[in-house]
Amino acid sequence: MGAWYKKAVIYQIYPKSFKDSNNDGVGDLAGITEKLDYVQQLGANTIWLNPIFVSPQVDNGYDVSNYFAIDPILGTMDDFTKLVTEMHKRKMYLLLDLPINDTSDQHPWFQDAIKNKDSIFREYYIWGENNGERPNNWGSFFGGSAWEKDPNGGAQYYCHLFDKRMPDLNWQNHEVRKSMADIAKFWIDKGVDGFRLDAFIHIAKANLQQNILNQDTEFPMDSSLYANLPNVKTYLQNFIKLVKDDNPEVFFLGEASSADAYQAAEYTRPNQFGCDMVVSSDNYGEIYPFKDPNIPKFFQPRQLDSTHFKETFSVWEAVLENISLPALTWGNHDISRVLNRLNVNAGDEDFPKALAVCMYLQRGIPIIYYGEEIGMRNLNYKKLKDFHDQRAMDLIQLLQGLGYADDDIIQLLNQQDEMTARGPFQWKNEKYVGFSQHHPWNWADHNTVTAEDAESDSEGLLAFYRAVLKIKNTPLFSEGSYVLLNTKTNIYAYERELNGQKGFVVVNLGKQPENYRIPTIKIIHTILANKANSLVDNVVTMAAGGSIVVMEE
Ligand code: NOJ
Repeated sequence: MGAWYKKAVIYQIYPKSFKDSNNDGVGDLAGITEKLDYVQQLGANTIWLNPIFVSPQVDNGYDVSNYFAIDPILGTMDDFTKLVTEMHKRKMYLLLDLPINDTSDQHPWFQDAIKNKDSIFREYYIWGENNGERPNNWGSFFGGSAWEKDPNGGAQYYCHLFDKRMPDLNWQNHEVRKSMADIAKFWIDKGVDGFRLDAFIHIAKANLQQNILNQDTEFPMDSSLYANLPNVKTYLQNFIKLVKDDNPEVFFLGEASSADAYQAAEYTRPNQFGCDMVVSSDNYGEIYPFKDPNIPKFFQPRQLDSTHFKETFSVWEAVLENISLPALTWGNHDISRVLNRLNVNAGDEDFPKALAVCMYLQRGIPIIYYGEEIGMRNLNYKKLKDFHDQRAMDLIQLLQGLGYADDDIIQLLNQQDEMTARGPFQWKNEKYVGFSQHHPWNWADHNTVTAEDAESDSEGLLAFYRAVLKIKNTPLFSEGSYVLLNTKTNIYAYERELNGQKGFVVVNLGKQPENYRIPTIKIIHTILANKANSLVDNVVTMAAGGSIVVMEE
């Protein structure tokens, strides 16, 4: 059935937080190598690492100052080679995270661009000005303006959609596309199997003279001016062709946070040198009740709504059919952990099991965020000053201005802020959870689950995840077709079919018991079930949070 990645099960590792082999408090590549067997036993065959290149760490590695070396806090090139070798020995694949929209301001391209007015690298970045002022009023995703004055006193401003220490690259310039392709090829030669293309939907911008017509704030945001513009696809194709011409098997997973299913289809059409798959924030299928509309969307509490979840996946599955595989995920490093986001009660293992069954057995590629499989939750910071990133600090200022009590702000941030989702992997019941002997770089109160405990619980979440992924790794569930079944509101049910063989997945996402007749006249048998489910004459009766997978005989 073609490319290897169609059968990928991806495990996302935040390298600074997985396993610290040299006890300096920061996770590293050698630590990841130590734990490959754990990842493989889970049933994942692919690892996506957040950026590992040299970086001032303004944005935890997304601000790259040297794409050709490993950041010393994570290890050495030898550690990297060892990691790839050990992965390939196990028939596992490695994806690196490649920030392509911007670099660090410490990158030699930018340094040369600001020091030397005739530098060819000036054209690697986006410059503008309007009568000595910023070219427009666009706001940055990280707060404030998206423009910063040339630090060496020039009249122009450079564009930065994220932090001001992360200037955006000028993808109109073919040399930029070529340079990025050279970087990708360097890592392919070192054994990398694919890339997550960070923030690629922003590489094309509208005409810089366009202001955003919003009088309420000084630096408003309107992604129609810098997300998913038509040239994104053109630049992307040009870059990917340069890489794929010599390396057709390399997998490109694009981060398309605000793309809908139709845009995702455009980015992933086969044989057009687009991405092989994209992942969007829409893939969670959650709703935002917007109880306080003053809170920016990024920090808005969310909830799982079974109707919306069904709509989301029926659309993504239908639109991408015969085009590409949907990304199946409950989280990543940019969003709070799923059990906090969805307010799952402490100690409840049934609902997390139901979430795994309903998400990962659909048609598509699972992306599991490290620690989800043992039920890790967000870190719980104690004080407002524990939140360091600009976005959180802006929110604190905003909410204090609106009269929110500090405790309420802390609670909101602990539930929504991304840093709380980047805690150390909880390996063992010991100080610093077996992650390190040293105080970890990101540390606060946390729930007490550990992989050590999970290993000895044959009925627990980890054992269940392993069982789910074992099913996922069969041809029916990795290659079969998907049809959403028509059911009561709180039941999510779908059919998978391959060469006449059928399987059914039924999950009770509600808070009451439910029953459901599996739509087949054939004899069926259960291959996985959680929680008091009875199956009599093809009618399954399920407790709240129940899930079942059955196969036709
Ligand atoms: C997307 C990454 O996932 C996020 O963590 C990062 O802050 C932004 N890109 C900017 O680089």
